[in-house]
Amino acid sequence: MSKQNIYDDSDFFENFRRSREQPVNFNDCVETPILFQMLPDLTGRSVLDIGCGMGQHAKQYSDMGAGYVMGIDISEKMLAYAKEHNSADNIVYRRLAMEDIETIGRSFDLVTSSLVFDYVEDFAGLMRKIHNLMKDDAKFVFSMSHPIVTAWDGVYDRYTRTETGERLYANLRNYCVEGKRKVDWVVNGYECYHRTVSSLINALIGAGFTIEECREARISDDMRKQYPALFGGTVHRPEFIFFRCGKTQGK
Ligand SMILES: C[S@@+](CC[C@H](N)C(=O)[O-])C[C@H]1O[C@@H](n2cnc3c(N)ncnc32)[C@H](O)[C@@H]1O
Repeated sequence: MSKQNIYDDSDFFENFRRSREQPVNFNDCVETPILFQMLPDLTGRSVLDIGCGMGQHAKQYSDMGAGYVMGIDISEKMLAYAKEHNSADNIVYRRLAMEDIETIGRSFDLVTSSLVFDYVEDFAGLMRKIHNLMKDDAKFVFSMSHPIVTAWDGVYDRYTRTETGERLYANLRNYCVEGKRKVDWVVNGYECYHRTVSSLINALIGAGFTIEECREARISDDMRKQYPALFGGTVHRPEFIFFRCGKTQGK
């Protein structure tokens, strides 16, 4: 099973760090507000954040009253940043691939993940492993790139534009073809996996989850007008998809 560690590539890491540290970015303005609205009460709870990156969410979970937070990530550079900037007494950062989470050896009240599952080859298998790490009444809240966004192979513009560059339509290609997409994005040979919406839903159900809520990324008209270069395309397509799940009784 291949595991890409692109965030330890210096150019990719620097590009991500710079955009994540901008006050206006997709993570803080689009992804995080929606994900956090879907979280249960964290007071005293144990949380696993899969693909914790630079630790912003882990720190926020700790600040929100979580009892214990474990952040795991495959990237040494991301974890070094997390430890330096987003530490707390009740946060443990571990270098661990999401494909290997069965080795963690404890269970959690909440499992979260933000924009990480695009990188897993066996999504259904990962869902089963996450289910096994959850207590009976635990919740699983995550986001990932929307399948409309990963239906892209890098050979055409993501948008059909007017002569002046205004985005007219979002382009979609090979939506029905699932699997690895290798594109030149920030670096040559960036890899992620495309799956259809029904594959995501069926993998969750097959792993023993009940889907309690599904959301698609939205941003306010005001933000879109204020930052047209960054958010102008969001009127045509949702960048991210979000799920909150519980364990199906008896599974
Ligand atoms: C888009 S970043 C998101 C980081 C963080 N969750 C956030 O919201 O800022 C994706 C993260 O997933 C991590 N990642 C990618 N593949 C992984 C794997 N196989 N196992 C664990 N982490 C992985 C990357 O190292 C990176 O930190």
